[in-house]
Amino acid sequence: MRVTGVGACLPERVLTNAELETMVDTSDEWIRTRTGIRERRIASPGEATSHLALGAARAALQEAGLTPSELDLVVLATTSPDKLIPCTAARLQHALGADRAWGFDLNAACSGFLFALAVAASQLAAGTARRALVVGAETLSRITDWTDRNTCVLFADGAGAVVLEGGGEGGPLGLSFRLDGSGERLLEVPAGGSAQPASEETVAARLHFIKMQGREVFRLAVEGMEATAREALKESDLSPEEVDLFLPHQANLRILEAVGRRLGIPEEKWVVNIDRLGNTGAASVPLALWEAWKAGRLKPGALLLFSAFGGGFTYGSLVWRW
Ligand code: ACO
Repeated sequence: MRVTGVGACLPERVLTNAELETMVDTSDEWIRTRTGIRERRIASPGEATSHLALGAARAALQEAGLTPSELDLVVLATTSPDKLIPCTAARLQHALGADRAWGFDLNAACSGFLFALAVAASQLAAGTARRALVVGAETLSRITDWTDRNTCVLFADGAGAVVLEGGGEGGPLGLSFRLDGSGERLLEVPAGGSAQPASEETVAARLHFIKMQGREVFRLAVEGMEATAREALKESDLSPEEVDLFLPHQANLRILEAVGRRLGIPEEKWVVNIDRLGNTGAASVPLALWEAWKAGRLKPGALLLFSAFGGGFTYGSLVWRW
């Protein structure tokens, strides 16, 4: 199978560290040195996850030279859906005019795009779909507490999309994915679901926003991404030296550096955009892929190592031949 198009959509509004200094007790220096982020994009009022997904999907289809009607499957990875019902994939399908496709949302936080790509690839491999659209899209700004300096300096909005088609020599070579619900208290949005429905009390207690114990998540992210990367490479009969491009989830520059260095992958093979885009959740990996695509870094036959860690916990790594 082959990725025949990659697209992205970013909100126009840029939020700088200098602006954050006026909102919470933080500093540009702290944010840059602890996270690597200089600025991020934030959706404007009325701009929802599906709008960003639509922009990315249209761009990917244009690159692939396909019309929406040629899609069999639409999988949208997100943690910040437009609504609980319908799924955001349905709103995307309708706006796009993908009138032959089936599809669904996949909620696996920052690992969502990798899981979605693997699901779509398995549909193509099984012959149950010939052309799939896989999107990672988020408006994390809507579930971020802008009074909490521990989280508001990190999260951002954006979308990335790929078109996957049958045929060709590329596709997944090996993967190692995990789901570990024991980490719930370290990273969650406590209210707004069936466990704790929205009420005046939950709103007053700010329970509809992301709560995170950053230090613990940091350690687990580094360990989980490294371990699964080694397993996925082993399954692919490859060593880290053979990786051409390392595309990690962009949660924190220090996490990405630690994983890259532990694996012994040289810096020139990493794709980094956290400095300009922050942590865009499920959109972060396809946005990294889009930057590599635009820069001409994706050569036919290249070996890509994707790795991600997110709320759940969900985490994993995927080796892909381009
Ligand atoms: N500005 C200034 N000081 C701050 C800020 C801030 N924005 N945020 C925290 N601090 C302070 C803390 O209060 C603490 O002060 P104290 O020592 O007096 O208590 C000090 O800085 C150090 O805090 P730590 O939490 O230890 O800082 P750390 O170096 O761990 O960085 C961070 C925090 C950036 C959150 C980091 O831990 C991280 O990136 N964690 C992983 C995030 C992640 O990968 N999440 C998963 C994906 S997200 C998803 O799934 C939706």
